[in-house]
Amino acid sequence: MSRFTLPRDVYHGKGALEALKTLEGKRAIVCVGGSSMKKGGFLQKVEDYLKEAGMEVELFEGIEPDPSVETVMRGAEAMSKFQPDWIVAIGGGSPIDAAKAMWIKYEYPETTFEDMCKVFGLPKLRTKAHFCAIPSTSGTATEVTAFSIITDYQKGIKYPIADFEITPDVAIVDPELTHTMPIKLVAHTGMDAITHAIEAYVSTANCEYTDALAIHSIEMIQANLVKSYQGDMASRDAMHDAQCLAGMAFSNALLGIVHSMAHKTGAVFADLGAHIIHGAANAMYLPKVIAYNAKDETAKKRYGVIADYMHLGGSNDDEKVKLLIAYLRKMNDDLNIPHGIATYGADGLPAEKGFVPENIFLERLHDIAANAILDACTGSNPRQPSQEEMEKLLKCCYYDTEVDF
Ligand SMILES: [Fe+2]
Repeated sequence: MSRFTLPRDVYHGKGALEALKTLEGKRAIVCVGGSSMKKGGFLQKVEDYLKEAGMEVELFEGIEPDPSVETVMRGAEAMSKFQPDWIVAIGGGSPIDAAKAMWIKYEYPETTFEDMCKVFGLPKLRTKAHFCAIPSTSGTATEVTAFSIITDYQKGIKYPIADFEITPDVAIVDPELTHTMPIKLVAHTGMDAITHAIEAYVSTANCEYTDALAIHSIEMIQANLVKSYQGDMASRDAMHDAQCLAGMAFSNALLGIVHSMAHKTGAVFADLGAHIIHGAANAMYLPKVIAYNAKDETAKKRYGVIADYMHLGGSNDDEKVKLLIAYLRKMNDDLNIPHGIATYGADGLPAEKGFVPENIFLERLHDIAANAILDACTGSNPRQPSQEEMEKLLKCCYYDTEVDF
Protein backbone atom coordinates (compact mmCIF):
# COMPACT_ATOMS: atom_id res chain seq x y z
CA MET A 1 0.00 0.00 0.00
CA SER A 2 1.16 3.52 -0.78
CA ARG A 3 -0.16 6.87 0.36
CA PHE A 4 -0.66 9.93 -1.87
CA THR A 5 -1.35 13.15 0.03
CA LEU A 6 -1.96 16.69 -1.21
CA PRO A 7 -3.55 19.81 0.28
CA ARG A 8 -7.34 19.68 0.42
CA ASP A 9 -7.58 22.81 -1.79
CA VAL A 10 -5.18 24.30 -4.32
CA TYR A 11 -6.32 27.67 -5.67
CA HIS A 12 -4.33 28.60 -8.77
CA GLY A 13 -4.20 31.21 -11.50
CA LYS A 14 -4.14 35.00 -11.48
CA GLY A 15 -6.18 36.48 -8.65
CA ALA A 16 -6.16 33.24 -6.63
CA LEU A 17 -5.05 35.24 -3.59
CA GLU A 18 -8.68 36.29 -3.14
CA ALA A 19 -9.45 32.74 -2.01
CA LEU A 20 -8.28 33.94 1.43
CA LYS A 21 -11.71 35.53 1.80
CA THR A 22 -13.24 32.05 2.00
CA LEU A 23 -11.19 30.84 5.00
CA GLU A 24 -13.26 30.34 8.13
CA GLY A 25 -11.78 31.15 11.54
CA LYS A 26 -11.29 33.70 14.30
CA ARG A 27 -7.58 34.57 14.31
CA ALA A 28 -4.95 34.31 11.59
CA ILE A 29 -1.22 34.79 12.06
CA VAL A 30 0.54 35.78 8.84
CA CYS A 31 4.17 34.59 8.63
CA VAL A 32 6.34 36.48 6.16
CA GLY A 33 10.00 37.00 5.28
CA GLY A 34 11.66 40.25 4.19
CA SER A 35 10.03 43.27 2.62
CA SER A 36 9.25 42.07 -0.92
CA MET A 37 5.68 40.99 -0.16
CA LYS A 38 5.03 44.31 1.58
CA LYS A 39 6.53 46.34 -1.29
CA GLY A 40 4.47 44.49 -3.87
CA GLY A 41 1.31 45.28 -1.88
CA PHE A 42 0.58 41.57 -1.43
CA LEU A 43 0.92 41.56 2.35
CA GLN A 44 -1.70 44.32 2.62
CA LYS A 45 -4.02 42.32 0.35
CA VAL A 46 -3.56 39.23 2.51
CA GLU A 47 -4.46 41.21 5.64
CA ASP A 48 -7.46 42.82 3.95
CA TYR A 49 -8.85 39.54 2.62
CA LEU A 50 -8.45 37.80 5.98
CA LYS A 51 -10.19 40.68 7.76
CA GLU A 52 -12.95 40.51 5.16
CA ALA A 53 -13.29 36.86 6.16
CA GLY A 54 -13.98 38.10 9.69
CA MET A 55 -10.61 37.27 11.24
CA GLU A 56 -8.35 39.13 13.61
CA VAL A 57 -4.90 39.29 12.01
CA GLU A 58 -1.40 39.41 13.48
CA LEU A 59 1.88 39.52 11.56
CA PHE A 60 5.06 37.57 12.28
CA GLU A 61 7.62 39.31 10.10
CA GLY A 62 11.29 39.05 9.26
CA ILE A 63 11.76 35.29 8.75
CA GLU A 64 15.25 35.04 7.29
CA PRO A 65 16.34 32.99 4.24
CA ASP A 66 17.40 29.49 5.36
CA PRO A 67 15.45 29.90 8.62
CA SER A 68 17.07 28.90 11.90
CA VAL A 69 15.85 26.77 14.79
CA GLU A 70 15.79 29.97 16.89
CA THR A 71 13.38 31.70 14.48
CA VAL A 72 11.10 28.68 14.62
CA MET A 73 11.01 28.83 18.41
CA ARG A 74 10.31 32.60 18.40
CA GLY A 75 7.44 32.16 15.94
CA ALA A 76 5.91 29.37 17.98
CA GLU A 77 5.99 31.63 21.03
CA ALA A 78 4.19 34.39 19.12
CA MET A 79 1.59 31.82 18.10
CA SER A 80 1.04 30.55 21.61
CA LYS A 81 0.40 34.14 22.74
CA PHE A 82 -2.00 34.99 19.88
CA GLN A 83 -3.70 31.54 19.66
CA PRO A 84 -4.43 31.60 15.89
CA ASP A 85 -6.71 29.02 14.27
CA TRP A 86 -5.14 29.79 10.88
CA ILE A 87 -1.44 30.02 10.08
CA VAL A 88 -1.00 31.81 6.76
CA ALA A 89 2.56 31.74 5.40
CA ILE A 90 3.48 33.90 2.42
CA GLY A 91 6.77 34.28 0.57
CA GLY A 92 9.58 32.08 -0.74
CA GLY A 93 10.29 28.64 0.62
CA SER A 94 11.87 29.98 3.80
CA PRO A 95 8.92 31.68 5.56
CA ILE A 96 6.60 28.82 4.62
CA ASP A 97 9.07 26.18 5.85
CA ALA A 98 9.66 28.11 9.08
CA ALA A 99 5.92 28.50 9.66
CA LYS A 100 5.41 24.74 9.21
CA ALA A 101 7.93 24.04 11.98
CA MET A 102 6.41 26.79 14.18
CA TRP A 103 3.05 25.07 13.68
CA ILE A 104 4.40 21.80 15.15
CA LYS A 105 5.85 23.61 18.18
CA TYR A 106 2.61 25.64 18.62
CA GLU A 107 0.48 22.49 18.63
CA TYR A 108 2.92 20.59 20.86
CA PRO A 109 4.92 23.05 23.00
CA GLU A 110 6.93 20.22 24.58
CA THR A 111 8.34 19.15 21.18
CA THR A 112 12.06 19.71 20.69
CA PHE A 113 13.70 20.37 17.32
CA GLU A 114 15.18 16.88 17.53
CA ASP A 115 11.69 15.38 17.89
CA MET A 116 10.54 17.26 14.78
CA CYS A 117 13.31 15.74 12.69
CA LYS A 118 12.14 12.15 13.22
CA VAL A 119 11.09 11.31 9.67
CA PHE A 120 7.34 10.64 9.40
CA GLY A 121 7.15 10.65 13.20
CA LEU A 122 5.03 13.71 13.98
CA PRO A 123 1.91 13.61 16.16
CA LYS A 124 -1.46 14.73 14.73
CA LEU A 125 -1.60 18.45 13.99
CA ARG A 126 -4.73 20.63 13.41
CA THR A 127 -5.88 20.47 17.03
CA LYS A 128 -5.25 24.25 17.24
CA ALA A 129 -4.77 25.60 13.71
CA HIS A 130 -5.00 24.94 9.99
CA PHE A 131 -2.32 26.00 7.53
CA CYS A 132 -2.46 28.03 4.32
CA ALA A 133 0.65 28.52 2.17
CA ILE A 134 1.13 31.18 -0.51
CA PRO A 135 4.40 30.87 -2.48
CA SER A 136 6.01 33.91 -4.10
CA THR A 137 8.80 31.97 -5.82
CA SER A 138 8.54 29.07 -8.27
CA GLY A 139 10.60 26.17 -6.98
CA THR A 140 10.39 24.73 -3.50
CA ALA A 141 6.67 23.89 -3.84
CA THR A 142 6.55 23.77 -0.05
CA GLU A 143 2.91 24.93 -0.40
CA VAL A 144 1.96 21.37 -1.36
CA THR A 145 4.68 19.24 0.27
CA ALA A 146 5.17 17.29 3.46
CA PHE A 147 8.60 18.88 4.00
CA SER A 148 10.27 21.79 5.70
CA ILE A 149 13.98 22.63 5.77
CA ILE A 150 15.35 24.24 8.90
CA THR A 151 19.00 25.11 9.46
CA ASP A 152 20.88 24.34 12.66
CA TYR A 153 23.59 27.00 12.45
CA GLN A 154 25.51 25.60 15.41
CA LYS A 155 26.07 22.40 13.45
CA GLY A 156 26.04 24.08 10.00
CA ILE A 157 23.52 21.51 8.77
CA LYS A 158 20.13 21.79 7.08
CA TYR A 159 17.60 19.35 8.48
CA PRO A 160 14.53 18.26 6.56
CA ILE A 161 11.36 17.80 8.60
CA ALA A 162 9.21 15.25 6.76
CA ASP A 163 5.67 14.19 7.56
CA PHE A 164 2.30 14.35 5.75
CA GLU A 165 0.99 16.12 8.88
CA ILE A 166 2.73 19.32 7.70
CA THR A 167 1.26 19.17 4.19
CA PRO A 168 -0.71 22.45 4.14
CA ASP A 169 -4.52 22.44 4.13
CA VAL A 170 -4.77 25.19 1.52
CA ALA A 171 -2.25 26.25 -1.15
CA ILE A 172 -2.69 29.47 -3.12
CA VAL A 173 -0.63 29.40 -6.30
CA ASP A 174 -1.10 32.90 -7.71
CA PRO A 175 1.47 33.74 -10.43
CA GLU A 176 1.15 37.50 -9.89
CA LEU A 177 3.30 37.13 -6.78
CA THR A 178 6.22 35.89 -8.88
CA HIS A 179 6.37 38.79 -11.34
CA THR A 180 8.82 40.82 -9.27
CA MET A 181 11.20 37.90 -8.60
CA PRO A 182 14.84 38.84 -9.34
CA ILE A 183 16.06 36.73 -12.28
CA LYS A 184 18.70 35.04 -10.13
CA LEU A 185 15.85 33.64 -8.06
CA VAL A 186 13.98 32.59 -11.22
CA ALA A 187 17.05 30.60 -12.28
CA HIS A 188 17.77 28.94 -8.94
CA THR A 189 14.20 28.11 -7.98
CA GLY A 190 13.48 26.84 -11.50
CA MET A 191 16.41 24.42 -11.40
CA ASP A 192 15.25 23.31 -7.95
CA ALA A 193 11.87 22.48 -9.51
CA ILE A 194 13.28 20.41 -12.38
CA THR A 195 15.49 18.58 -9.87
CA HIS A 196 12.39 17.74 -7.82
CA ALA A 197 10.63 16.34 -10.87
CA ILE A 198 13.62 14.29 -12.12
CA GLU A 199 14.52 12.93 -8.67
CA ALA A 200 10.86 12.03 -8.02
CA TYR A 201 10.61 10.23 -11.38
CA VAL A 202 13.62 7.96 -10.71
CA SER A 203 12.99 7.62 -6.95
CA THR A 204 12.48 4.09 -5.68
CA ALA A 205 9.18 5.35 -4.20
CA ASN A 206 7.72 6.50 -7.54
CA CYS A 207 4.25 5.42 -8.63
CA GLU A 208 1.80 6.08 -11.48
CA TYR A 209 0.32 9.09 -9.66
CA THR A 210 3.68 10.78 -9.11
CA ASP A 211 5.03 9.80 -12.57
CA ALA A 212 2.23 11.69 -14.33
CA LEU A 213 2.91 14.84 -12.33
CA ALA A 214 6.70 14.60 -12.65
CA ILE A 215 6.74 14.10 -16.42
CA HIS A 216 4.29 16.89 -17.15
CA SER A 217 6.16 19.32 -14.95
CA ILE A 218 9.46 18.42 -16.68
CA GLU A 219 7.85 19.21 -20.06
CA MET A 220 6.52 22.51 -18.75
CA ILE A 221 9.86 23.51 -17.19
CA GLN A 222 11.72 22.64 -20.40
CA ALA A 223 9.30 24.87 -22.35
CA ASN A 224 9.26 27.78 -19.91
CA LEU A 225 12.18 28.16 -17.50
CA VAL A 226 14.75 29.82 -19.75
CA LYS A 227 12.05 32.02 -21.32
CA SER A 228 10.87 33.07 -17.87
CA TYR A 229 14.48 33.94 -16.98
CA GLN A 230 14.63 36.06 -20.13
CA GLY A 231 11.57 38.02 -19.02
CA ASP A 232 8.62 36.29 -20.71
CA MET A 233 5.79 36.72 -18.18
CA ALA A 234 3.49 34.07 -19.69
CA SER A 235 6.33 31.60 -19.11
CA ARG A 236 6.80 32.99 -15.58
CA ASP A 237 3.11 32.17 -14.93
CA ALA A 238 3.49 28.65 -16.36
CA MET A 239 6.54 28.02 -14.17
CA HIS A 240 4.49 28.69 -11.05
CA ASP A 241 2.14 25.84 -11.95
CA ALA A 242 4.98 23.60 -13.18
CA GLN A 243 6.91 23.83 -9.90
CA CYS A 244 3.72 23.07 -7.98
CA LEU A 245 3.12 19.90 -10.03
CA ALA A 246 6.74 18.86 -9.39
CA GLY A 247 6.08 19.44 -5.69
CA MET A 248 3.03 17.20 -5.74
CA ALA A 249 5.19 14.51 -7.33
CA PHE A 250 8.14 14.67 -4.93
CA SER A 251 6.09 15.12 -1.79
CA ASN A 252 4.76 11.63 -2.47
CA ALA A 253 7.63 9.97 -4.40
CA LEU A 254 10.40 11.58 -2.31
CA LEU A 255 13.75 12.72 -3.67
CA GLY A 256 17.32 11.49 -4.03
CA ILE A 257 20.96 12.31 -3.35
CA VAL A 258 21.08 15.57 -5.33
CA HIS A 259 19.06 16.93 -2.46
CA SER A 260 21.06 15.03 0.19
CA MET A 261 24.21 16.72 -1.11
CA ALA A 262 22.56 20.14 -1.48
CA HIS A 263 21.27 19.98 2.12
CA LYS A 264 24.66 19.07 3.51
CA THR A 265 26.75 21.53 1.48
CA GLY A 266 24.30 24.47 1.76
CA ALA A 267 25.38 25.94 5.09
CA VAL A 268 28.64 24.10 5.78
CA PHE A 269 30.77 26.86 4.24
CA ALA A 270 28.73 29.71 5.74
CA ASP A 271 31.80 30.70 7.82
CA LEU A 272 33.52 31.60 4.53
CA GLY A 273 30.86 34.19 3.84
CA ALA A 274 28.31 32.52 1.63
CA HIS A 275 25.72 29.81 1.35
CA ILE A 276 25.59 27.47 -1.60
CA ILE A 277 22.06 28.44 -2.61
CA HIS A 278 19.76 25.41 -2.67
CA GLY A 279 18.65 25.67 -6.30
CA ALA A 280 22.15 26.40 -7.56
CA ALA A 281 23.53 23.41 -5.63
CA ASN A 282 20.90 21.18 -7.23
CA ALA A 283 21.64 22.58 -10.68
CA MET A 284 25.36 21.79 -10.28
CA TYR A 285 24.94 18.33 -8.74
CA LEU A 286 22.03 17.00 -10.85
CA PRO A 287 24.06 16.10 -13.99
CA LYS A 288 26.67 14.32 -11.81
CA VAL A 289 24.07 12.32 -9.94
CA ILE A 290 22.30 11.31 -13.17
CA ALA A 291 25.61 9.87 -14.46
CA TYR A 292 26.08 8.02 -11.15
CA ASN A 293 22.50 6.71 -10.88
CA ALA A 294 22.40 5.64 -14.54
CA LYS A 295 24.64 2.69 -13.59
CA ASP A 296 21.43 1.28 -12.14
CA GLU A 297 19.45 -0.29 -15.04
CA THR A 298 15.99 0.79 -13.85
CA ALA A 299 17.11 4.37 -13.27
CA LYS A 300 18.84 4.45 -16.66
CA LYS A 301 15.60 3.41 -18.41
CA ARG A 302 13.67 6.08 -16.52
CA TYR A 303 16.16 8.81 -17.49
CA GLY A 304 15.68 7.55 -21.05
CA VAL A 305 11.91 8.08 -20.75
CA ILE A 306 12.51 11.63 -19.50
CA ALA A 307 14.81 12.31 -22.47
CA ASP A 308 12.10 10.97 -24.81
CA TYR A 309 9.44 13.25 -23.36
CA MET A 310 11.88 16.14 -23.78
CA HIS A 311 12.47 15.10 -27.45
CA LEU A 312 16.23 14.97 -26.97
CA GLY A 313 16.85 12.13 -29.48
CA GLY A 314 19.27 9.23 -28.90
CA SER A 315 18.87 5.67 -30.10
CA ASN A 316 19.53 3.82 -26.83
CA ASP A 317 19.36 4.59 -23.11
CA ASP A 318 23.09 5.31 -22.78
CA GLU A 319 22.87 7.96 -25.48
CA LYS A 320 19.67 9.38 -23.99
CA VAL A 321 21.31 9.75 -20.56
CA LYS A 322 24.24 11.61 -22.16
CA LEU A 323 21.87 13.92 -24.06
CA LEU A 324 19.86 14.60 -20.90
CA ILE A 325 23.03 15.54 -19.00
CA ALA A 326 24.17 17.79 -21.84
CA TYR A 327 20.75 19.47 -21.98
CA LEU A 328 20.74 20.20 -18.26
CA ARG A 329 24.28 21.61 -18.41
CA LYS A 330 23.19 23.87 -21.25
CA MET A 331 20.29 25.07 -19.07
CA ASN A 332 22.82 25.98 -16.36
CA ASP A 333 24.76 28.00 -18.95
CA ASP A 334 21.60 29.77 -20.16
CA LEU A 335 20.69 30.58 -16.56
CA ASN A 336 24.20 31.72 -15.59
CA ILE A 337 24.72 28.99 -12.99
CA PRO A 338 28.21 27.50 -12.51
CA HIS A 339 28.96 23.79 -13.06
CA GLY A 340 30.92 23.11 -9.89
CA ILE A 341 31.63 24.39 -6.38
CA ALA A 342 35.19 25.43 -7.38
CA THR A 343 33.73 28.10 -9.68
CA TYR A 344 30.74 28.99 -7.47
CA GLY A 345 31.22 32.69 -6.78
CA ALA A 346 29.36 35.58 -5.14
CA ASP A 347 25.57 35.53 -5.59
CA GLY A 348 25.81 32.01 -7.00
CA LEU A 349 27.28 33.28 -10.25
CA PRO A 350 30.17 31.59 -12.09
CA ALA A 351 33.56 32.94 -11.02
CA GLU A 352 37.11 32.02 -11.90
CA LYS A 353 37.76 31.41 -8.22
CA GLY A 354 34.79 30.38 -6.11
CA PHE A 355 34.38 31.19 -2.43
CA VAL A 356 35.20 27.67 -1.22
CA PRO A 357 38.98 27.06 -1.42
CA GLU A 358 40.11 23.56 -2.39
CA ASN A 359 41.91 22.83 0.91
CA ILE A 360 38.84 23.73 3.00
CA PHE A 361 36.60 21.61 0.78
CA LEU A 362 38.91 18.59 1.09
CA GLU A 363 39.21 19.11 4.86
CA ARG A 364 35.44 18.96 5.28
CA LEU A 365 34.74 16.37 2.57
CA HIS A 366 34.62 13.33 4.86
CA ASP A 367 32.00 14.82 7.17
CA ILE A 368 29.90 16.29 4.35
CA ALA A 369 29.77 12.88 2.65
CA ALA A 370 28.90 11.09 5.89
CA ASN A 371 26.11 13.58 6.60
CA ALA A 372 24.79 13.39 3.03
CA ILE A 373 24.51 9.60 3.29
CA LEU A 374 22.45 10.04 6.48
CA ASP A 375 20.15 12.66 4.89
CA ALA A 376 16.45 11.75 4.72
CA CYS A 377 16.53 12.00 0.90
CA THR A 378 19.16 9.26 0.42
CA GLY A 379 16.88 6.31 1.17
CA SER A 380 14.78 6.71 -2.00
CA ASN A 381 17.73 7.27 -4.35
CA PRO A 382 18.09 4.49 -6.96
CA ARG A 383 21.68 3.72 -5.85
CA GLN A 384 22.90 3.70 -2.26
CA PRO A 385 26.37 5.28 -2.22
CA SER A 386 29.15 4.12 0.09
CA GLN A 387 31.22 6.70 1.98
CA GLU A 388 33.94 6.37 -0.67
CA GLU A 389 31.49 6.82 -3.56
CA MET A 390 29.83 9.82 -1.95
CA GLU A 391 33.23 11.47 -1.46
CA LYS A 392 34.12 10.79 -5.10
CA LEU A 393 30.78 12.18 -6.25
CA LEU A 394 31.23 15.34 -4.18
CA LYS A 395 34.71 15.77 -5.65
CA CYS A 396 33.22 15.60 -9.15
CA CYS A 397 30.75 18.28 -8.01
CA TYR A 398 33.60 20.44 -6.76
CA TYR A 399 35.95 20.14 -9.76
CA ASP A 400 33.22 19.60 -12.40
CA THR A 401 34.76 16.34 -13.55
CA GLU A 402 33.03 13.41 -15.19
CA VAL A 403 31.43 10.65 -13.08
CA ASP A 404 32.61 7.23 -14.28
CA PHE A 405 31.80 4.98 -11.34
FE1 LIG B 1 14.61 21.33 -3.46
